Amino acid sequence: MREFRSAPAITCEAMTREPDVEKFSVLFVCLGNICRSPTAAGVFRQVAAEEAPQLDIRVDSAGTSDYHIGNPPDERSVRAALGRGIDLRASRARQVTARDFERFDLVLAMDRRNLRDLRALQPGASRAELRLFLEFAAEAEDLEVPDPYYGGPDGFERVLDLAMRASRGLIAQLLRGQGVERPRG
Ligand code: 4NP
Repeated sequence: MREFRSAPAITCEAMTREPDVEKFSVLFVCLGNICRSPTAAGVFRQVAAEEAPQLDIRVDSAGTSDYHIGNPPDERSVRAALGRGIDLRASRARQVTARDFERFDLVLAMDRRNLRDLRALQPGASRAELRLFLEFAAEAEDLEVPDPYYGGPDGFERVLDLAMRASRGLIAQLLRGQGVERPRG
């Protein structure tokens, strides 16, 4: 097993696999899959593409609820993300399934309610490791990404800020785990 220097270490078996056998995979999960988790997936894809293209990580998002199945992301999330050069418009909401715990190495919940719901759904001895996304954010005051759905535009910007911080932290850890240097600049 490889050792990780900073908490929270990802301990799942996939981190020790040969990189070209199968891609490392991450699933972002919130309640509706129209605000936070598509934003998190979009931000993480952008950070991964910029900082660690060699990792070639598989990324998806899903919701614990069935409220918005088949819908594109909330237009407020789309607008806020476009403001930072991230296009979420291809995303379509889907509900988490038991199979997701076999298809993904890491399942990242946006808040504790999502985490609780995921734990209830996770089959015993499944492959996925479950975490709160913000466990990977440097200096996070809180470990939950606040739900912006019933609030104003600031909430959507806050989701982007938090997702950026946690994505950078996760990528940095994955780079350390893979023993590759982080690009300079
Ligand atoms: P999300 O936000 O979980 O970040 O996608 C929500 C979207 C829809 C609802 C709640 C939260 N809703 O109640 O419909």
